[in-house]
Amino acid sequence: MKRRMTSTAVLGLGAVAALGWAGAAQAEPPADWSAIPTETVTLFYPGQSSYDWLRSSDHKRAFTKVAEGDACASCHEGEEADMGEFIASGERLEPAPIEGKNGSVDLKVQVAYDDENAYFRFRWPTQMDRPGQMHSYIRYDGEGWKFYGGPRSSAEVRSGEEPPLYEDRLAIMVDDGSVPMFAEQGCWLSCHTGMRDMPEEPTRDEIAANPVLGSDGLNKGDIRKYLLSSRTDEEASWDATKTAEEIAEIKAHGGFVDLMQWRAARSAIVDMADDGYVLEYRLSDAGKGPYSWNVDRKTMTPKYMFDASEVGVKAITVDDIGDPSKPYALVREANAAPYDPDAGWKEGDVLPGRLVSRVDAKGSAADNNQVTSEWKEGVWTVVFTRKMNTGHPEDDKILEEGKSYTYGFAVHDDNVTTRFHFVGFPRSIGFGADGDIEATKLP
Ligand code: HEC
Repeated sequence: MKRRMTSTAVLGLGAVAALGWAGAAQAEPPADWSAIPTETVTLFYPGQSSYDWLRSSDHKRAFTKVAEGDACASCHEGEEADMGEFIASGERLEPAPIEGKNGSVDLKVQVAYDDENAYFRFRWPTQMDRPGQMHSYIRYDGEGWKFYGGPRSSAEVRSGEEPPLYEDRLAIMVDDGSVPMFAEQGCWLSCHTGMRDMPEEPTRDEIAANPVLGSDGLNKGDIRKYLLSSRTDEEASWDATKTAEEIAEIKAHGGFVDLMQWRAARSAIVDMADDGYVLEYRLSDAGKGPYSWNVDRKTMTPKYMFDASEVGVKAITVDDIGDPSKPYALVREANAAPYDPDAGWKEGDVLPGRLVSRVDAKGSAADNNQVTSEWKEGVWTVVFTRKMNTGHPEDDKILEEGKSYTYGFAVHDDNVTTRFHFVGFPRSIGFGADGDIEATKLP
């Protein structure tokens, strides 16, 4: 397992490796990736190009074609970078552009597989000159802890009141042909009016009243990705939900999209990615993923601080943010100690508001536990091992040799969330089958 010595020492991860995950797997990613072909997928800034917009007459003469299921790439192939630049500039589909935002990013993708695993190597350049590993930080202001920093889209960061602090991410969607039109239109099928940071966001009370998403159901406070099949009307309105029973039936037949996210702050440090799926909402797989809150959000009391005996400090300071010699994430089993309110906290002390744990991750939500990453000279490299058969068909897409699957990729770069990411048109990946990308079979 490739791992930077510095980060292992700084983060106190020697202890985690001793718990036995390093090298536990039998099948390994290719030792030499240079023998595996590289496909470049241009991801671009989509703004508010939702499902609804794509099917409206604003999408010029294309809207009937989109409704009929034509592939985005059939008209737009090769235009991604131009489209991204156009939208990021605020000329179209972006009412609140972020100053200096680039319009696209080239994601380099390599894929191999063996009987046990699929192996992906992803590389992309970042706009920042440091890895985006800071997320949900909390700062002591002399009296108590308050959230510190946020995504560039937030009002506080735009006004300069708070610094931009949000994690880098790589998101992967997968379908096996069960979701109609995913092969042609990919991620866009999951993007709708009413979602977070999209037009016409409903109020919390409106969501609370919805039988599936509200207080009698999933108890959500906002709307996130969902598929058309989970709604009853043609517009796939956020509130036109099918019943929980109907949705469960669709899920049992595999009518969901698998969604995995490598998170630079909340999963990378323990060599994991999270594991979820999209159907009536963006949901986690069963079990427990690699991260949770490190702060009681009602009382704003942290649960853990850094273990000074492991990493030399109980907290970092505002000035330490981005310093590679300082710890950036709290790992419960490696560098965390229970929070001590009497530890002499000073104004400007900073702790992560999230807690990461590999040991506590369980079940299908913990499937992606062989994901290594490195940021070097402005480029992320993520090597993502995913079991061909995770053993969890209820919320994962099971990969089989001789078949091809549709993949959608997205990258969150430079302190952003929601629509402010980069997304690509879908690609097919064949495992011993035809595809835009044909995975290399390893001996
Ligand atoms: C039949 C051809 C066709 C298809 C299929 C199609 N589009 Fe378009 N799209 C267009 C045309 C034409 C425009 C308008 C360009 C202009 O206004 O100059 C456009 C504009 C856009 C824009 C606005 C940015 C721009 O450059 O004007 C976005 C975003 C977009 N399309 C996304 C998509 C996505 C996502 C899909 C697949 C779900 C898709 N399109 C499918 C033809 C198509």
